[in-house]
Amino acid sequence: MKKLPFFLHGGDYNPDQWRHVPGIVDEDFRLFPLAGVNSLSVGIFSWTALEPEEGRYEFGWLDDIMDRAAARGMAIVLATPSGAKPNWMAAKYPEVRRVTGDGVHEPLRELQCRRHNHCLTSPVYRENVRRIDEALAARYGSHPALALWHVSNEFNGECHCELCLAAFRDWLRAKYGSLEALNHAWWTGFWSHAYTDWSQIEAIDYSVDGLVLDWKRFVSEQTSSFIRNEAEALRRHAPDIPVTTNLMGFFDGLDYACIAREIDIVSWDNYPQYHERPGETETLPAFIGLTHDYMRSLKPGRPFLMMESSPGPVNWYHHNRLLRPGQHRLKSLQAVAHGSDSVQYFQIRKGRGGSEKFHGAVIDHVGHENTRMFREVAQVGRDMEALAPVFGSVVRPKVAIVFDRESDWALKASQGPLEALKGGYADAVAAHYLPFWKRGIAVDVVDGDAPLDGYSLVIAPMLFMLRDGFAGRVEKFVAAGGTFVASYLTGVVGPTGLCFTGGFPGPLRKLLGVWAEETDYLYDDERNAIECASGNPLGLSGSFETSLVCEVVHAEGGAEVAATYGRDFYAGDPALTVRRSGKGEAWYLATRADAAFLDSFHGALARRLALPRALAADLPEGVSAHVREGAGGERFVFVLNFASARREVRLDLGSTYRDLLSGGSTLEGSLALPPFGVAVLQKNPA
Ligand code: GLA
Ligand code: ZN
Repeated sequence: MKKLPFFLHGGDYNPDQWRHVPGIVDEDFRLFPLAGVNSLSVGIFSWTALEPEEGRYEFGWLDDIMDRAAARGMAIVLATPSGAKPNWMAAKYPEVRRVTGDGVHEPLRELQCRRHNHCLTSPVYRENVRRIDEALAARYGSHPALALWHVSNEFNGECHCELCLAAFRDWLRAKYGSLEALNHAWWTGFWSHAYTDWSQIEAIDYSVDGLVLDWKRFVSEQTSSFIRNEAEALRRHAPDIPVTTNLMGFFDGLDYACIAREIDIVSWDNYPQYHERPGETETLPAFIGLTHDYMRSLKPGRPFLMMESSPGPVNWYHHNRLLRPGQHRLKSLQAVAHGSDSVQYFQIRKGRGGSEKFHGAVIDHVGHENTRMFREVAQVGRDMEALAPVFGSVVRPKVAIVFDRESDWALKASQGPLEALKGGYADAVAAHYLPFWKRGIAVDVVDGDAPLDGYSLVIAPMLFMLRDGFAGRVEKFVAAGGTFVASYLTGVVGPTGLCFTGGFPGPLRKLLGVWAEETDYLYDDERNAIECASGNPLGLSGSFETSLVCEVVHAEGGAEVAATYGRDFYAGDPALTVRRSGKGEAWYLATRADAAFLDSFHGALARRLALPRALAADLPEGVSAHVREGAGGERFVFVLNFASARREVRLDLGSTYRDLLSGGSTLEGSLALPPFGVAVLQKNPA
């Protein structure tokens, strides 16, 4: 597999939209070096420019871009155009158009409009996609500028046509073998839903939660197989060029673990609203950090790419505020700090029309380089050059937080648990992530299928659905000395949404040493408290607030009670427990404790487990620190200031640091960061 040549700095570039404007491409190539742009993502929505009529190709404009890029040593990210199908195709082959459905009403075929609107199954669409992909791959597969294939764009959505439905029924037949097994797995005796023929199965029926879950799995797998069809066409002509598709962070329509299996490099599109709330210095940047870590962990131990971000305001938030000076650089280098080998943008040149004509771009409508955002982009371009030694280095966390998309779907499909919890799974995970982010401790984000060896600490907040084998893997992990933390609403259902019998948290009950007998969902404005038990093993003290969910649990099997509820009829009952097993231990937190509690709790665990930190000293409020490790053992420490005030950061005693962004000067003792400032320091350079 060909490696990427360097840190990619560039982004979506649409010269095909400007073909009627003479001189524009010359001007763009004059501006690229001024902005430090070394990479262009082309062809993402260019199907009609490449194939204006069926079978008639126009590659001239793309040849020109590829050749100009090669002559300047730039890297091209070449997209397949399947994210937006041409009008001629939609008119000639109606089956390529998506059919909408809610599982309740007769499905309806969509008109040709917008994008991301093709049937995932249609053989006609797949064949047309394969044809254009093969044409691109045959023509450019060995072009010196080609660095990466970009398959389609931001896959999302589903189709309810007869072809998709038939494929779903085949998928179910392959999965369950018989209707008897399916009826059993879906508990279809409920409301008389037993299926007696495969053709009776509709796409979704909210009353059969196993069906809802399997439909979502099917949509992910059908999307994967759509990607595979494209990747095969590309790899046939260009076996050495890596393949990616741009993901969307915590988007909940697809299981990204399933998608990641089809691609060589993970990439995603990052649009944080750092400008929205000027006082926001921790929760939001930590959430974006978590999202980077989640995306990186889809292929652990390797860099990922930030395929898109906006140089300026986007056009699709309710309120599109300007980035404050310095925030563009901060947001860009935050991605690199978490392991991205690129800073890429949507988009390079702002279009004059279409629904994104007001979206941020490197080159604004004014057309020249004398804009604030162009200068900020150029600064990032210089930074990326100065950071060349960091390219290819990796992040090696000792902590894993479980975020499991299937579990999210299983919780959302279940009627009963509090609605506020259903929409808030990523936020619940983020609450456990924040204490590590504040301490400069690296975290991977894994799902219930991931191997756990190599981690010291594994945290599973609200892991409602347990995959087969997960409990066994956690038992082994703890026996070998690992520390496991689970929280309320964990181990409630199995993979088809059926509740575990024999006491929650189901297969984890024995290891955790708790039985969650009842669950009390609080009103939004209600609070309970947890009181730390004296002499608890982490030395926690005091009382903390807790909200939304309080499980009434029993400690058993030798579990120790580390904190109890402060109020209500279950006052004095366990709220936090720990049970030792083998060389490790397993903690259970029965309620949604506040940020102060999570900070004390995870802080104490981090100290006890001596989890590695980017910097030994505590970080000031709003500052995060991250390490990327080079192949030769180099340690690159990124220090990011999300506060709009100056911050002083203490460096490790006895170490020297080379400041890579300011000409390689040497630092010792401390580092001063301006508002929204960033430093990248190589620790004890040889
Ligand atoms: C997404 C898409 C781009 C563009 C941007 C705008 O990430 O991939 O084509 O629409 O959003 O923010
Ligand atoms: Zn379809």
